[in-house]
Amino acid sequence: MAKSFHFSKASVLVTGGAGFIGSNFIHHILARRGFSGKVVNLDKLTYAGNPGNLAGARKYGRRYAFVRGDICDPGCVKAAMKRHGVNCIVNFAAESHVDRSIHGPAEFINTNINGAFVLLEAARELWKADAATRFHHVSTDEVYGSLGPKGRFTEKTPYDPRSPYSASKASSDHLVSAYSHTYGLQVTISNCSNNYGPRQFPEKLIPLMILNALEGKPLPVYGDGKNVRDWLYVEDHCDAIRLLLEKGRPGETYNIGGGCEKRNIDLVKNLCSALESLAPSAANAALRGRKYSELITYVKDRPGHDRRYAIDYSKIHRELGWNPAHTFAEGLARTVEWYLGNSEWIANIKNGSYRKWLEKNYARR
Ligand code: NAD
Ligand code: TYD
Repeated sequence: MAKSFHFSKASVLVTGGAGFIGSNFIHHILARRGFSGKVVNLDKLTYAGNPGNLAGARKYGRRYAFVRGDICDPGCVKAAMKRHGVNCIVNFAAESHVDRSIHGPAEFINTNINGAFVLLEAARELWKADAATRFHHVSTDEVYGSLGPKGRFTEKTPYDPRSPYSASKASSDHLVSAYSHTYGLQVTISNCSNNYGPRQFPEKLIPLMILNALEGKPLPVYGDGKNVRDWLYVEDHCDAIRLLLEKGRPGETYNIGGGCEKRNIDLVKNLCSALESLAPSAANAALRGRKYSELITYVKDRPGHDRRYAIDYSKIHRELGWNPAHTFAEGLARTVEWYLGNSEWIANIKNGSYRKWLEKNYARR
C-alpha cells in the first residue's frame, strides 16, 4: 500500500518562522499534544524576522531547530531539508507589507516568487512525487483583487491582484498549483484574510495604532477610512493551517477568513475603546488629557488602495469543520493585552537592539 502523509509525525520546514504568523504557528504546533514531529525554522531574519518571537521554543529540545537562511538559496534550502529529513514544507516566508511593496517591489519579486520557486524545485528534486510529503503554501485573499459593496471571495474567484505584494503572492500561488498539476507534488494552498494578534510587526494597521496611541502620536487613517478588511485572530489562522496539513486534500486551495468585516475607521475606534478599558488615556501622561480617539488623523490614501476584501470560508468549514474560535472583541482584547505586557519586545524593535542581537548571534561567515 502507498505510504501516506501524517502531519502529526512530520519533520516540518517552516519558512519565515521568525515572523508574525510563522512564529505563532510554530508555538501552536509544538505545544500541541497530538504533534510529535519536529520543526525546522528557516528564516533570513529580515527587518520583520525577530528571534525573540521564538523565545521559549528552546524547551522543545531537538524537536525545534533554527536555520538562518534565505529561501532564494537552493543550497541552503536543500541542505536543511536533507539534514533534518524534511517531508513537509509550510511556506510563510515573504515580504508581507503592501506599503513597502509600493515603495520597493524588487524584494517582493525576489522572495515571494523566486523564493517559492526555489522551495518547489527543492521539494520536486528531493521528494519526487512521494505521497508521504506535503507542501503547504500560505497566501492571502489579496490575490483576488478588490470587491464592491457586495459579494465575497470564493476559491473560484478569478485572480486580480492590484499591488506588487498581491501580484507576487498570486504568482507564487500559480507556481505552486502548476507543480501539483505538472509534477504531482503534494500541495495545498490557503488564502487568508487580514491577521492580527501577538508578535505582529508594528508597521501593520493594528500594532501600529496600538503603539502610536500609547505614545500619544497621531493614528494615521488612509483616505476616507471606509476601506473594508476581514479580520482573523492569528491563532485561528494557525489552527486552520494545522487542520489543512492533517486533513486537507492535496491539490486543493482553501480560503480562510474571520467572517468579520470592518471599515478601517470603525476598527480604529474599536481599538481606541479597547485601549481606554485596558490602559485608560487619563492615566497616560503621553496623552496630555486627550482621549485615544482624539489622535485619529486622516492622511493621504495609499496608491491603488483596495476598497474591500471579504472571504467566503465555507469550503474549509464544510470539509474540515473549521470555524474561527475567537470573536473580534476577544481577539482585540488579547492583542492589546499582549502589547501592553511585552514592552521589552516593543523596545527591542524600536531601538533596533533585536537586530544587534541577531547580528552578533547569527553573524554571516
Ligand atoms: P512577516 O513579515 O511578519 O514575516 C515574514 C518572515 O519571513 C520574517 O520572519 C522574515 O525574516 C522572513 N523572510 C522574508 N524573506 C525571507 C527569505 N528570503 N528567506 C527566508 N525568510 C524570509 O509576515 P506575516 O505577516 O507573518 O506573513 C506570513 C505569510 O502569511 C506571508 O506569506 C503572507 O503573505 C501571508 N499572509 C499574511 C497575512 C497577514 O495579515 N499578515 C494574511 C494572509 C496571508
Ligand atoms: P495593513 O495592515 O497594511 O494590511 P493590508 O494592506 O494587507 O490589508 O492595512 C490594513 C488596512 O488599514 C488597509 O486598508 C490600509 C489601512 N491602513 C491605514 O489606514 N493606516 C495605516 O497606517 C496602515 C498601516 C494601514
